[in-house]
Order: sequence, then structure tokens, then C-alpha cells
Amino acid sequence: MHDKNIRLDINIKDFSYPDKTIAISDINLQVFSGDFIGILGANGSGKTTLLKLMDGLFKNYNGLILLDGKDIKKLRPREIYKKIGLVFQNPDEQLFAPTVFEDVAFGPQNMGFEMQEVTRRVSDALKKVDLDDLAHKPISNLSFGQKKRVCIAGLLAMGQGLLLLDEPTSGLDPAGEHEFLRLLTELNLNNNVTIVMATHNVEFLPVFVKRIILLKNGGIAGDGIPHEIFVSPERMSELNLSLPSIGQLFYELKHYDGFAVDKIPLSIGEARKEIVKKVLS
Ligand SMILES: Nc1ncnc2c1ncn2[C@@H]1O[C@H](COP(=O)(O)OP(=O)(O)OP(=O)(O)O)[C@@H](O)[C@H]1O
Ligand SMILES: [Mg+2]
Repeated sequence: MHDKNIRLDINIKDFSYPDKTIAISDINLQVFSGDFIGILGANGSGKTTLLKLMDGLFKNYNGLILLDGKDIKKLRPREIYKKIGLVFQNPDEQLFAPTVFEDVAFGPQNMGFEMQEVTRRVSDALKKVDLDDLAHKPISNLSFGQKKRVCIAGLLAMGQGLLLLDEPTSGLDPAGEHEFLRLLTELNLNNNVTIVMATHNVEFLPVFVKRIILLKNGGIAGDGIPHEIFVSPERMSELNLSLPSIGQLFYELKHYDGFAVDKIPLSIGEARKEIVKKVLS
């Protein structure tokens, strides 16, 4: 397997859209090989813009983004997409081939694989997102969630070392969402795939993500493990976000009912441990 080690050094002073909206300001962050990062922020906080900057799609920013030490502005698209895969928030921005198979095959074909290898990759990827029986269906006749799955399959078929995912699970059914996050975890742990995922869904982040970057008005308002980010309902509502519901429940138990917890659990797994500890002690 090819080397998946990757590093991004992001130093952006500011980035504005043509209508002068300043979408990103003062962002300094490093993405290291093996990271599994959630970019968390309310609507309009800059998540999509930041991912597009990280993928080299916008070049007119003040600052410098280095992909493995090289200025991303100066890299050719091919040099970028060999290393980085981006799933757009809106599948209609991403999908363009007539059928599911052709769309998923486009990436590996362009990476120069033989047809046999392309076919193998496409069918593997379609199985992983549970779409193998729709391989020859026209894209335009798919449901929204099925289109999201095609986008994800397209990425899996390319097998890059860094995946940038913009709200990848919005529109997926609960089983599909869980399965996809499990798949990402497996890629991250077993295949050294680095993952940066933008979302405003606070529920699954503490379960799957090791590091959260919090965005507010285009800048970084926090960078740390989930327990450093999800500190209180007040802090989260300042950001138009909330604690995960398990966290909110334990916060209320602690502050209003005197339930003694040191660390507020943020997931069912952590809450179970805390309750079992209390009941059995
Ligand atoms: N093409 C554009 N032209 C002008 N302004 C834009 C454009 N795209 C985004 N913006 C603005 O940039 C800011 C950041 O938008 P962005 O799409 O990055 O937010 P986001 O965090 O991804 O939001 P969401 O959760 O709604 O997807 C917003 O103020 C938005 O209005
Ligand atoms: Mg967005």
C-alpha cells in the first residue's frame, strides 16, 4: 500500500469571498497523520470554507497552507487529489457522471489504475456503503441519502491518505450514519487514514472523534479533546451549539440534583461506566 503519511500546516490570516464576506480569519492549525478531527461550528461559522481551503480549491487568501511542506497554491490539482479527498456538503456539487458506477469509477480512473483494478475498487466501495445493487442506476434518480453514499463511495474508491468530509452523515439514516462512522474509525485506526470532518451534530463527535476544532465567525474558538470543548450548556449556546444530550443530562444531574460526577459523561459508553460505578460502589 502507498504511503499515507500526510501533514497539513494551515496559517491563514484571512479569506474573503468576492462579495467581501470575510469567511475565515486567523486560523493556525496543524493536521497530523492519524488525526481524526471534528470541525464543529454553527451555520455560517466557516466549516465548508475551511475544508475547501484545505483542499486547495480557493487560492486568494492571505496566508500559507503547506501540504507535506509544499505550498498548496503551487501544487497541481493532480498532486492534491492523490493525497486529499473531499466530500462536499451538497452531493449535487460533487456528482456529475450519468450512473453510480461511472461516478465512483471516475476518481480511480484518473489516478491511472487499470480497468480491472478500477472495477474492483468501485465494487468494494459500493458494498461498503450498501449501494452495490444500484451500480447502474442514473444518479439523477437517487434519493438524497443515496447520493451522499455515492459521494462517500467515490472517496473510498480512491483511497487517499487525508479525507475531508463536509457534513458526511447529514441525510443518512441512523444505521447508515453509524455504519459510516464505524468505517471511518476503521480506516483511521487500521489504514492510517487522516480524517477531518465538519459537522454541527454534537451527538456523535465524542464517540468517534479524538480532537475537535471549534469555529466561531470564521476563527478558532477552541481546539482540544471532546471533554475540553463540551464544558457547559452556556458555553455551547454562545456558539449556537449544545452539549450532546447525554452531557446535558449529566450536567443537570450534577448542578441541579447534586449527583456527584467528576467528569461529565458525553456518550452512552461513558455514562454507563459512571452509573455502574455509582450503583455498585
Ligand atoms: N459563495 C459565497 N459567497 C459569499 N459568501 C459566502 C459564500 N459561501 C459562504 N459564504 C459566507 O461565508 C461564511 C461561512 O460559510 P460556510 O459555508 O463556510 O459556513 P459553514 O460553517 O459551512 O455553515 P453550514 O453549517 O451552514 O454549512 C458565511 O457567512 C457565508 O454566508
Ligand atoms: Mg457548510
